[in-house]
Amino acid sequence: MMKSQPPGAKIFALNGEQDPYVLFEIARRDGPVQKIGGAWLILGHAEATQLLRSPTTRSGFLADGYRARLPPGAAREEMSHRVNFLDPPRHARVRGLISKAFTPRRTSRLEPFIRERCRELIAPLSGEKPIDLLPAFAHEIPSLVISELLGVPLEYRDRLTHLSTRVSKLLGTGNSSQEMADAISGAEEMHATLRGIIEARRQKPEDDLLSALLAVAEGDDRLSESELLSLAATVYSAGHRTTRDLFANGMTALLPNRELMDAIRSGTPSSTAVVEEFLRFETPTHLVGRMLSEPMELAGVTIPPGEGIFVGLAAANRDPAAYPDADRFDPARWIREPAPPAPLSFVMGAHFCMGASLARLEARVMLEVLLERLPELRLADEALHWHHTGVFRGVDALWVIPGPARSVGARVTRTPAR
Ligand code: HEM
Repeated sequence: MMKSQPPGAKIFALNGEQDPYVLFEIARRDGPVQKIGGAWLILGHAEATQLLRSPTTRSGFLADGYRARLPPGAAREEMSHRVNFLDPPRHARVRGLISKAFTPRRTSRLEPFIRERCRELIAPLSGEKPIDLLPAFAHEIPSLVISELLGVPLEYRDRLTHLSTRVSKLLGTGNSSQEMADAISGAEEMHATLRGIIEARRQKPEDDLLSALLAVAEGDDRLSESELLSLAATVYSAGHRTTRDLFANGMTALLPNRELMDAIRSGTPSSTAVVEEFLRFETPTHLVGRMLSEPMELAGVTIPPGEGIFVGLAAANRDPAAYPDADRFDPARWIREPAPPAPLSFVMGAHFCMGASLARLEARVMLEVLLERLPELRLADEALHWHHTGVFRGVDALWVIPGPARSVGARVTRTPAR
C-alpha cells in the first residue's frame, strides 16, 4: 500500500490560495523537527534558532546547485559570489568588508529621506475611491530608499527593479526554460547597468554605499569587482521586494482593526512594536535552506551532516512554544514582560540579514506616516490574493479606502518598543 504524504510535505508545495499557517499547525503535530523524503524540515522556534546560530551550518551548497544549471556569464558569476550563499571562511571576510561600509549610521540617517518620500506619496491620497497601496506606496518607498542608499541614479530605478524581478527567477525551482533564459539575460543586463554606475562612482565618489564599498579595505584586502557587482545586485533585489511585502502583508492584519490603529496613533503599542509583530505574523520569507558540517541533535533527533534542511522561518514565528496565542496579531506582546524571542524573519547567526535595521526603519516610518495622514484608512471590499512563490509569500494587491486626509501638523506619538 502507498504511504500517504505527511502534512509537512505540503509545506514545500504551497500556493497562494492555501493558508500556510493552518498547514503549519497540522504539521507541528509530527514534531518540531521532521524528515520528509530526503530533506529535513524545522518548524520549532527554539530548534530553528539553535540550528541557524550554530557555526556548523552551511549555505554554500545552495549556490552550487543553482550554479550547476547556469552557463558561464553574469548569472553564474553572481551565484559564485552572493554573500548569503558564502560559507566560512570566505563569508566572514566578505561580510566584514561590507559591514565597514554599510554602517548603522548609514541606515539611521535615511530616516528624514524616508519620511519625506512617504509624505509626498501619501499627500495625493484621500477620498472614498479604492486605491491599490502596493504599487502606489509599498513598492515605491523601498525602491526609492534602496536607490538612495546605494547611490543608483533615479533614471535607472525602474530598469533595475524590472531586471531584479527577472533575475530573481534564477533562485526558483520549476521555472520554464524560457524563464531561465530570461533570468540569465536579465543578469547580463543588470550587471552591465550596475557596472556602469559603479564605474561612475569610481571616477567620482559620492556619499553613498556604492562609493563606500569601493573604498573599503582591510589591509590589502578589498572587495573584488565580481563581489561588488554581486553585492549591488543582491542588495538591490533584497532591499525592496521583501520590505514591500513586509509592509503590505502586515497591513492586511492591522487594517481590519480600527481600535488598534487608534491605539497606535496614541502611542501604545508603539509603531516599533507593530513592525516587530508584522515581522513575526506575516514574514515575507518563509523558508531558508541549510546543511550541517557536523551532526546536530535537535529535539531528540540527530541530523547528520550533508543533508538538506529547510528552516521554516514563518512556522517558527507562529510556534506556540515561543509565542503565547501565536496565531493572534498582537503588537502589544512586544511591550509585555518577559520579552518574547526575536522573530526569525531575518534569520539568526552568521547570515543575519544585513538590511534588518533598514527594513524595520522603512516599515515603521511608512506606518507612522499612513496613520498620521489617513485617520480613516481601511481595507476596501476587494478580496486579498496571496502569492507563494518558492520561499516568498506576499499579497498581490492592497486595495484600501483612504478616507479623508488629515492636515500636515498632526503626528503619531512614538514610544520605544519596551
Ligand atoms: C523585510 C525585509 C527583509 C527581509 C524579510 C529579509 C530577509 C533576509 C533573510 C531571511 C536573509 C538570510 C538569507 C539566508 O541566509 O539564507 C537575509 C540576508 C540578507 N539580507 Fe535581507 N531581508 C530584508 C531586507 C533587506 C534589506 C533592506 C537589505 C539591504 C539593504 C537586505 C540585505 C541582505 C543581505 C546583504 C543579506 C545577506 C547576509 C549574509 O549572507 O551575510 N535585506 N535577508
